Amino acid sequence: MSKVQFPENFLWGGAIAANQTEGAYLEGGKGLTLVDLLPTGKKRWDMMFGKLEQFTPIEGEFYPSHEAIDFYHRYKEDIALFAEMGFKALRVSISWARIFPYGDDAEPNETGLQFYDDLFDELLKHNIEPVVTIAHFDVPVYLIEKYGSWRNRKLVGFFETYAKTILERYKEKVKYWMTFNEINMLLHLPFVGAGLVFQEGEDQKQIKYQAAHHQLVASALAVKACHEINPDAKIGCMLAAGMTYPFSCNPEDVMDAMDKDRESFFFIDVQSRGAYPGYAKRFFKDHNLLIEMNEGDEALLKKHTVDYIGFSYYASRATSTDPEVLKNQTAGNVFGSIENPYLEKSEWGWTIDPKGFRITANQLYDRYQKPLFVVENGLGAIDEVNGDGEIRDDYRIEYLRKHIAEMGEAIEDGVEIIGYTSWGPIDIVSASTGEMKKRYGYIYVDKDNEGNGSLNRTKKKSFDWYKQVIESNGQKL
Ligand code: BG6
Repeated sequence: MSKVQFPENFLWGGAIAANQTEGAYLEGGKGLTLVDLLPTGKKRWDMMFGKLEQFTPIEGEFYPSHEAIDFYHRYKEDIALFAEMGFKALRVSISWARIFPYGDDAEPNETGLQFYDDLFDELLKHNIEPVVTIAHFDVPVYLIEKYGSWRNRKLVGFFETYAKTILERYKEKVKYWMTFNEINMLLHLPFVGAGLVFQEGEDQKQIKYQAAHHQLVASALAVKACHEINPDAKIGCMLAAGMTYPFSCNPEDVMDAMDKDRESFFFIDVQSRGAYPGYAKRFFKDHNLLIEMNEGDEALLKKHTVDYIGFSYYASRATSTDPEVLKNQTAGNVFGSIENPYLEKSEWGWTIDPKGFRITANQLYDRYQKPLFVVENGLGAIDEVNGDGEIRDDYRIEYLRKHIAEMGEAIEDGVEIIGYTSWGPIDIVSASTGEMKKRYGYIYVDKDNEGNGSLNRTKKKSFDWYKQVIESNGQKL
């Protein structure tokens, strides 16, 4: 039994994204989104950094998002399983190109709007609160081709129209919103985060920060619209979080760790505190970056700040200024990090650090003093189906148990946390690699990396475990 009391009405559940689950990539009038152009393997990585050859899928190439796990047709079956686990919330995203297939269309696509109406009705029927991300890595391809995506100020207007359309349409059904998923990802995977494609010789830093400004303005406009349309709704930002540890107590390392964290905090400082922080202005000056702003932008950012801080936590990071130490790099939700000798890693090299979860939550709460919402956390692992057809994913239970326990400690520390939606409660396509074998779910989906499989759903051992966690409101871990 845990000694920690989780708040009553704590939003236990899971989190998924349209582009990694729905499939049906051209059905119901949907347009192409950037993820529909991402194959697997090395090519995927090159493209995610901003290298794109053509704006249509290539004949004969395998694209995992095109079918994904076919959630578009199977959502009722999947939601019934989430309900069986006792989910109080499901985080989903709306695919921009289902609503505005080109992104700059004059009218929204009714079939797309109806799909999400049906999805939310199904959730509400099971007393599951929809938590909705407006943009989760899926800019309509046409906006990239015609306008250069978020490097162009015009995207702000297109996004505002899209956001207002869905905020208005679902105002009776959705109480929790988020603007951009992992907004800081823009700096690391610019194509995924903002649809940015670079030509040779371009100043990528300049383009990224200009695009970031556009997203921050767009985010503030969505916050404004949300509050006007439904004053009872809450709208948050979403950070790919994970504290950066200095490798040593050498002040150079400590400063470097602080700078690394600030690369990410920069976004949330604007979204939550409402202004560009001094350190960002200095960074722009030092790097000769000129961010174009319209009159009124600063006032808008100041006035329309978020209600809560949504964040994902998978791993902590570590940094050093010693070139020898820097050689020991490891992966970690795409953010470069050096290996932490005190911690283990997942099969994909992501550092496993439950205590870091508590530290990160405290760090965010100390900084922003707003409720936190843990909207992603989990372990991507290879699961084996044994001879009896069972999947005994004890390693996943172990990871989640320790992380939830540390979240409880953070609550004891006084951190206000609204809920916890673990990532990929059902196996879905991996965002970074496009693989199916990197599984996070309590529910196994029969599909492999090449797209073969029946798509049948099977409960893993962790299914009953998570059910009991929710039933006991975090007491039985
Ligand atoms: C986050 C994203 O970066 O991490 C998700 O918001 C993603 O879309 C998750 O799936 C896990 O990453 P991956 O690469 O293991 O799927």
